[in-house]
Amino acid sequence: MFLGTGTGLLWYFQSEKARVQEEREKEQNKPKAYGKPKLGGPFSLTNAETGGKLGTDDLNGRFYMIYFGFTHCPDICPEELDKMAEVVDAVKADKDMGEGVLIPVFITCDPRRDTPEIVKEYVKDFHDDLIGLTGNEEEIRRVAKLFRVYVSSPPNLEEGQEDYLVDHSIFFYLMSPDGTFLDCYSQNATSEDVTESFKNYYQEYKAKGGQLDKKPASLLQKKA
Ligand code: NI
Repeated sequence: MFLGTGTGLLWYFQSEKARVQEEREKEQNKPKAYGKPKLGGPFSLTNAETGGKLGTDDLNGRFYMIYFGFTHCPDICPEELDKMAEVVDAVKADKDMGEGVLIPVFITCDPRRDTPEIVKEYVKDFHDDLIGLTGNEEEIRRVAKLFRVYVSSPPNLEEGQEDYLVDHSIFFYLMSPDGTFLDCYSQNATSEDVTESFKNYYQEYKAKGGQLDKKPASLLQKKA
């Protein structure tokens, strides 16, 4: 069962990566005015820290990086979230960038098990700034669709069944302060790669006179 899932995932990631790359190449060949692929869009989910709503209205004004995963994930999600934490620390430590510039966001793709309480505890293991979001199944399905995230839970789960894996795509989505999609990074990208790439987007934004809301990330997280 696990092997089968792994092979399916590998196939999926490879084809997904090829698709995204192809899409990006297509985008790059278009006149600049057409911009990036249309990933993302307005959303509002449950902030695991407070139980209140948190979404694009709160996040816009800064760069943010979204990762979709689930708290029961045995190894990939923890590795990827550690990587995201390293990126955030590198950005904070950089003299040109610093505090509050890049907000890390975790969105569960397993709302059935990932209640706000569980997500709240989980995100603490990775980074103090990491915002954990959950919602009901329909809300999560909608947001995953906005980002074209592939999610598949086993069919016919029994009431109370807790031991199962969720297949999901593994990407970080980098969003600009106006809420548009900038880039996505696969599992192959190291934290150094992602930090370097982010720095380029940041400098480009600043060079164009872009402003940033630099309030500490903790304020955003504690939002009711
Ligand atoms: Ni995972």
